[in-house]
Amino acid sequence: MSPDLGSWWMPFTANRQFKAAPRLLARAEGMHYFTPDGREVLDGAAGLWCVNAGHGRREIVDAVHRAMSELDYAPPFQMGHPLAFEAAEALLGVLPDGFANVFFVNSGSEAADTALKIARAFHVANGQAERVWLIGRERGYHGVNFGGISVGGIANNRAAFGPLLQEVDHLRHTHDPDRNGFSRGQPKYGAELADDLLRLVAKHGAEQIAAVIVEPVAGSTGVLPPPVGYLERLREICTEHGILLIFDEVITGFGRLGAPFAADLFGVIPDILTMAKGLTNGALPMGAVAVTAEVHDALMQVPAPAIELFHGYTYSGHPAASGALIATMEIYRREDLFARAAQLQDYWQDAMHSLRQAPNVVDVRNIGLVGAVELAGVEGGAGRRGYDVLCRAFAEGLLVRVTGDTVALSPPLIISEPQIDELVEKLASAIISSSREIT
Ligand SMILES: Cc1ncc(COP(=O)(O)O)c(C=O)c1O
Repeated sequence: MSPDLGSWWMPFTANRQFKAAPRLLARAEGMHYFTPDGREVLDGAAGLWCVNAGHGRREIVDAVHRAMSELDYAPPFQMGHPLAFEAAEALLGVLPDGFANVFFVNSGSEAADTALKIARAFHVANGQAERVWLIGRERGYHGVNFGGISVGGIANNRAAFGPLLQEVDHLRHTHDPDRNGFSRGQPKYGAELADDLLRLVAKHGAEQIAAVIVEPVAGSTGVLPPPVGYLERLREICTEHGILLIFDEVITGFGRLGAPFAADLFGVIPDILTMAKGLTNGALPMGAVAVTAEVHDALMQVPAPAIELFHGYTYSGHPAASGALIATMEIYRREDLFARAAQLQDYWQDAMHSLRQAPNVVDVRNIGLVGAVELAGVEGGAGRRGYDVLCRAFAEGLLVRVTGDTVALSPPLIISEPQIDELVEKLASAIISSSREIT
């Protein structure tokens, strides 16, 4: 029996349109979803950038079951339970050297807001309370809480919710299709855009700026890999001016780019790093914020027994999520999944760029096991072609993610080469049939 769709107000969804023609997923296994009537759908999006190890991982289900059977819930304020500490150890074990502690939250949005708060608190602890400005970047996405949408750079996500945080400014984005169209891996041009931070330093004064937050590869605004040298330069300027650098690795973490984290891949270590999604393979809601010893220790200066950070969530380090995290890290390790995207990268890249031939394709870009196919917009109907391709791909048996008219792809890291071919064939077919309908 199909459920009544009326009650659930769905997130980031055209509710009325969806409920008139729903797309339901009932089950998942490996690389596939299955609809309620049993139709197989190849997962080209790792759910929503999160199911890096593929679906239905029994070890995670069992770990969650064990954790919850033993301890359904334990308060994390002034109390602790062993699994959360084990989870923090397991997570530190895969993070780049230099991170000393992790703070657990329940989502990427909470991770972003937590990171911004830690950054401000760090400067207060160091006697620089005037460092309050938070710098994001145009086309950045850091979730939907007030901090995240303030530093984020997506107009629709901000428009109805102001006033937002006031002491916020934005770097220019790095997307430059004229110079970098159809780039393979990191685009060549644009390292100098990191110097835009110097403009903001001149405008606000370095001594007023707390932190810069960027996604190493912007995901939600259509997959924008950083130009060669850009992140290195951003790191340099931050260090020079005592500004904390925050990497939002909610998408780029856990092997998505062919290294454990983008920080590893690019050799640029931020002061604070946020995670979610692949942290539990998407199986349970969980996020985390990793900090260097310098950041952590600065906040430990208050005389004991004072609470050092007045921040946290009822479900921080929840037993079930902690169990899921530990099991997920074990799968990544055992199957060497953080190396997988690097192994597949060339094959993936060629497959992605073969879509250049399809009608209305104005750009293709890729890095690690992520790709984007940007389609020409329709006059007066931004996003219409993208949405149409999403629906047609789903009908063909392929799940993709669409932002505006850009189709974003990020399959589970367990995808095989024949499945990459299948993904590309289905997407090409959806793009071709859509362009017959929408000219
Ligand atoms: C870079 C980045 N940060 C934060 C978030 C927000 O995560 P969540 O939806 O878990 O709050 C996302 C979600 O896509 C993201 O891509």
